[in-house]
Amino acid sequence: MPAGLLHALDGELADLSTEREQFFAVQQSKVARLLYAIEHGHIAILAAMFDLSKRAVVLTGATGHIGPTVLRAYLGQGAHVAIPVRDEARGAAIRDSLGDLAGTPEDPRVIVRAADPGNRAAMEAFVEQVLRAWGRLDVVANLIGGYAASDASSGDLAAYRAYWDQKVATIVTATTACLRPMRARGHGRVVNVASTAALKGEKGAAGYAMANAALLRWTESLAEEVKREGITANCVLPRIIDNPENRAAMPKADPSRWATAAEVAAIVVFLSTDEASGITGAAIPILART
Ligand SMILES: NC(=O)c1ccc[n+]([C@@H]2O[C@H](COP(=O)([O-])OP(=O)(O)OC[C@H]3O[C@@H](n4cnc5c(N)ncnc54)[C@H](OP(=O)(O)O)[C@@H]3O)[C@@H](O)[C@H]2O)c1
Repeated sequence: MPAGLLHALDGELADLSTEREQFFAVQQSKVARLLYAIEHGHIAILAAMFDLSKRAVVLTGATGHIGPTVLRAYLGQGAHVAIPVRDEARGAAIRDSLGDLAGTPEDPRVIVRAADPGNRAAMEAFVEQVLRAWGRLDVVANLIGGYAASDASSGDLAAYRAYWDQKVATIVTATTACLRPMRARGHGRVVNVASTAALKGEKGAAGYAMANAALLRWTESLAEEVKREGITANCVLPRIIDNPENRAAMPKADPSRWATAAEVAAIVVFLSTDEASGITGAAIPILART
């Protein structure tokens, strides 16, 4: 190849390389600006997308590990939240920890009242209190539960029944008390927290798996019954959630693999939004990084 041509090609290549560097520099700065906007503006964007400011939520099981995080996630989207508790002191402690977020006595954004979620009459009265305070009830989210070991091989019916009472009877009772105002308005969201054990039995946790499966089947049946009334009913199924109890029980495990309370809360709150109207009768596993 003539030396002149080689020289010209060399020059072209140098120009192309400069242009490439300039192009990447511009794109990188665009990406950096976009990331900055997302990082600093995402809460506002989410709040604008999922506006729950006209919605009243009944939240059961709020006194447990993930309860306060789910409560704050709802408040972050503008919702009003009513909490039935068995232990008034625990309920009051949660409300007090919220400070201004809980609203004022004249205009409360959070109501905490003593009412056993498993008692139908108590829950009917609680629902009346919510309607008197806010004139509406749009969402019921049930976090009630806990873990209970029971072998399949022992056939321990008393243990199975006890967990069924704790998980299924409570959530079914609380939810059905909330359905009347939802049906009257033609709008509602039911979100139940079950477990991946609803999908497959687990060694040493027969009653837990059976009750979670029953809750899932009940939720699916409810979803079918109310699907043309503007009401959705869904289950989320965490496998394991990071909390001090689980860390103490499994000291050798890597808790960063487990779902965080915030990860569970985000899905519970999303299923409560108007935008989630197309999802009903679903069982959404939250496996996180396990
Ligand atoms: N933690 C996990 O790794 C994991 C994994 C999969 C699924 N889940 C499920 O996720 C949900 C939330 O988890 P969490 O860790 O926040 O649960 P948690 O700390 O055990 O909290 C349980 C909540 O349920 C309430 N509760 C328990 N028995 C009740 C009963 N008989 N009647 C009325 N309320 C009752 C408790 O209220 P009191 O304060 O009145 O006792 C408490 O508010 C639970 O349903 C749990 O089963 C958890």
